[in-house]
Parts: sequence; C-alpha cells; structure tokens
Amino acid sequence: MFWISKKTVFFADLFNTNFIDIHNHLLPGIDDGSKSIEYTNRMIEAMQNLGIKSAIATPHTFPGLWNNTKESIANAFASITNPFIQNYSSEYFADSYLLDLANDNQLITLPDNHLLVEFSLFSPPVDGVMDVFFNLKLKDFNLILAHPERYTYWEKNISFFENLKAFDLSFQLNALSLLGYYGEDCKKLAEFLLQNDFYDFLGTDFHSMRQIDFLKNASFPKKFENKIEILIESNLKFQP
Ligand SMILES: [Fe+2]
Repeated sequence: MFWISKKTVFFADLFNTNFIDIHNHLLPGIDDGSKSIEYTNRMIEAMQNLGIKSAIATPHTFPGLWNNTKESIANAFASITNPFIQNYSSEYFADSYLLDLANDNQLITLPDNHLLVEFSLFSPPVDGVMDVFFNLKLKDFNLILAHPERYTYWEKNISFFENLKAFDLSFQLNALSLLGYYGEDCKKLAEFLLQNDFYDFLGTDFHSMRQIDFLKNASFPKKFENKIEILIESNLKFQP
C-alpha cells in the first residue's frame, strides 16, 4: 500500500475560521455581478457552504461603464436582508474622478478608511494615476490595489509592483487567480507575488455561481498554504 501525501489545498479547508471577504460583486443589478436578489441569495448560500463567514460588498464604480454612486450602492445593499453581507464599499476604477468624489465626500470606504482601487485589465494606467494616489494619501485614504496579478501587462516588469508597494499601497489577491481561473500568466504572477510577500489581503472577487463552483473544486499548491492563512487572518481587521 502506498502513502500518498496531500500536495494541494482547497480554499474551503482554509475558510473555516472567520474569513471576511472584502472584494465581491454580490449586490444585485448594479454591475457585472449578481443580476437579481434571488441570485445574490444563491451566491451567499454557496459562499457560506465554502466556510466564508461574511462579506463587505464592493460593486464596481467605473465612470462611463458602471456609474454607481453612494446612493445606488446603498439602495442595492438595502435590498438584501441576509446579514452575511455586513456592509458595502466599492471597487473604484483608479482615475482622477476619485479626487472629485473625495472632495465631495462621496467615496464609500472599507473600514479604517481603506479604499479598493483597480486598474484596467488590458492596458497600464496613465502616469497621472500616481498623482491621484498621492492626493488620496494626503487625504488619509489607505489604498488597496485589487488583484495586481491580473495586470499581466506588467508580468515582466516587477518594478511597477515594487513602486506601488513603495508608495504604500496594499495588495489584494484574488483567490481564483491562484487556481488558474484567469489563465496561466495570471496564476504564475500570483504565485510570484505571493512567494515574495507582496500581498496584504485576500478577496474572492466573485461575480457568479460559476466562479464559486470553480473555487470549490480547484486546489492550489500546499507550499502556499501558510501564506494564504496569513492573508485570511489579515482580513479580520475588516470585521466590524
Ligand atoms: Fe472586482
């Protein structure tokens, strides 16, 4: 009889503590995530079955594409009665309009004034984005960059990531990236950034049941287990 050692790990085996998800598209009807209250409730049930304890909803705010406002997001949040979604924020496309929203007190932050920002998946941000980040920092926002591993246009230019870290941005890993959901390049970059301790937080970025099912059935190398456990622990700071 052979002894077969377990060399991969399922996220569901690690979500058994108090994991709070800080990046997802659970709120219905306001972005490319859930399209209805019923679908949101299905997603919540599936996430709870994975062992996830709670979530802060982060629908996109992306001028010209997802024109969400404080009000539209608050209304979508109010339509969900399940306490699994504890609160709401937004995933903001990083551009100069953020300074206008900040000046008008219209940004919805995560706890402790954290602000989740994303870049385009297809082309690098304009140089001016660093000025935007600088001014947001002056206003005491703590910036979190969503899924840096998905910006594979920088996969051969790690210095871009180093610069952002040096600028005090926190990095949030998408769980699905490590499982290969977005392709091999993204997975490799996630592994590199994880191995080299670039990440601060973990999110699911779930948009659909398909993604939840994918995460349920895929595993990642055991050598990253401890680093993922540390990220799950770090997310606890977002609990109310
Ligand atoms: Fe997202």
